[in-house]
Amino acid sequence: MTTDSQRRRHMIDLDDVDAEEIEEILTTTESMKEVLSREMKQVPALRGRNVVNMFFEDSTRTRISFELAARALSANVVSFSARGSSVEKGESLIDTVRTLQSLGADVVVMRHGESGAPYLVARHFHGSVINAGDGRHAHPTQALLDLFTIRERLGQIRDIKVVIVGDILHSRVARSDIWGLTRMGANVTLCAPPTLLGQHKYWLHTWPGLSISHDLDAAIKGADVVMALRLQKERMQAGLLPSLREYTRAYGITPERLAQLDERTLIMHPGPINEGVEISPEAATSPNSVIEAQVTNGVAVRMALLYRLAG
Ligand code: NCD
Repeated sequence: MTTDSQRRRHMIDLDDVDAEEIEEILTTTESMKEVLSREMKQVPALRGRNVVNMFFEDSTRTRISFELAARALSANVVSFSARGSSVEKGESLIDTVRTLQSLGADVVVMRHGESGAPYLVARHFHGSVINAGDGRHAHPTQALLDLFTIRERLGQIRDIKVVIVGDILHSRVARSDIWGLTRMGANVTLCAPPTLLGQHKYWLHTWPGLSISHDLDAAIKGADVVMALRLQKERMQAGLLPSLREYTRAYGITPERLAQLDERTLIMHPGPINEGVEISPEAATSPNSVIEAQVTNGVAVRMALLYRLAG
């Protein structure tokens, strides 16, 4: 049990979150989901608290999800994107955070293109920092909503086989999911072309239990979850892929691969989707797909975190 004195202040990655704490977060998420099922989707837990969403990279679902989560807890929420702020006038990240602090922010939810930026903010901010995605480093709330969705659908995480396929090299979602899934006892297989995976020893050194494959048809045999990732064109150097068509043939969740899956295998994707590239429309909308549930569960997970950090 986490006692009050050891209560976490920030959520920057899952690398420092153990299985017990993940369990607690998932249990809190269940209560929050119950709140969201009511006609009045609001509780007073964070009344009078100020939550600032600070997004330096584009986002639709994550940002709206955090806004709805903060409002469902009755917090005051302001969203701020780097465009149109003093950041464009050259204000540094640290100055911005000091300003937010002087303005009375209790929680900063931040997304930033540089890996590690939330650690810098956390050092200069007296409240709580929640990482909503930093570079290719981490995206802990996405991983938590993935864990919640898997457990909700399959009843367990321990001992299941999860295949993460696609642009793993550039993916903060993959890194946080690997932390969360391995902590909860899942078996994780990474499947990607060599150019979108990088050095095996990096992965195996950090997470010794991982399996690595370059053959998706072999990897999906017996999988309980197949999680496709978006090709991160904005983080990609030219020349990593021969062609999109080639990529889809080897690593896409095509209708042919969908037909190979067991009927209880979950198909996941964090969104936004490059439709027809990493996943076909047939697979994304098939009964195996839980992509919409992932989005829905994101609000409850973020409520749980806001409540645990600032409630
Ligand atoms: C992810 C992100 O931004 O890291 N999207 C999300 O938060 N739902 C994944 C992505 O952009 O591919």
